[in-house]
Amino acid sequence: MSSPKRIRKAVFPVAGLGTRFLPATKAMPKEMLTVVDRPVIQHVVDEAKAAGIEHFIFVTGRNKGVIEDHFDSQFELERTLDERGKKKELAELRRDLPAAGQTSFTRQQAPLGLGHAVWCARDIVGDEPFALLLPDMLHHAATPCLADMIAAYEKHGGNHIAVAPVPEDQTHQYGIVGVEDRAAKVSRITGMVEKPKQGTAPSNLHITGRYILQPQIFPILESQERGAGGEIQLTDAMIQLSKRDDQAFHAVRFDGTIYDCGAKVGFLSANIAYALDRPELSEALKTELKKLF
Ligand code: UTP
Repeated sequence: MSSPKRIRKAVFPVAGLGTRFLPATKAMPKEMLTVVDRPVIQHVVDEAKAAGIEHFIFVTGRNKGVIEDHFDSQFELERTLDERGKKKELAELRRDLPAAGQTSFTRQQAPLGLGHAVWCARDIVGDEPFALLLPDMLHHAATPCLADMIAAYEKHGGNHIAVAPVPEDQTHQYGIVGVEDRAAKVSRITGMVEKPKQGTAPSNLHITGRYILQPQIFPILESQERGAGGEIQLTDAMIQLSKRDDQAFHAVRFDGTIYDCGAKVGFLSANIAYALDRPELSEALKTELKKLF
């Protein structure tokens, strides 16, 4: 196999309504809720950057303008930090800032589903394979999940989906894949289903929210009918794409911990786990947590 096209671009769909976090998300996007001192979306952009992504495409919606501001420079703030000699804070702000021209923002005018949000990025992605990261899902691991996936992609080409096991009695809540070899780190996908009825799932491996997709997904999304929940479902489009002989799908098993920051318990747990990783916070936090139990 000739070496596959490099993955340069990543799409971040951030147009969802975040109803599970109301009223916090009435005026503020859920992607800007903070895990320790960084917005959730910054953690996910960090993961993409660490995997070598060069262009960050955000599919936004109403009330999401602050995400664009977050990834822009803040001249007055930077000058004030400089004048006050806050060199560390200034260096960190500048480190996190994408270079000029490395971000694109497009709008999903109505929240018609994840598949529709991805389709909204079609012109910016163009005719090349791309990464897709769901910002709600924090993948906590020594090696960034997307870096593992790009390594697998460079070996096998095609499409890749990150997966992780869930208890068998919870498979009906997730997108589930069937694979040739459940124990392998990377395995050919033999089937996919969105929220299978209890007892019918092809495995207990759920789709965790990291993907590498070929651009041939876009024309499928364009004509995609609404699926579960009346939304245009990405999984339905991937099922269509996987039927083509030239479009293999691989599952890449993620071995770290996933925090669903779109749900309250996941978000709170992420805050604790990420704070415990920080040497300047961990001991004090452990002391406070012990007082609660
Ligand atoms: P979710 O269903 O978890 O997000 O979608 P939501 O709709 O914001 O959350 P709740 O259920 O109302 O609390 C998963 C991801 O897909 C994006 C969301 O922003 C989230 O990152 N999404 C979903 C879109 O961008 N557009 C959509 O139409 C739907």
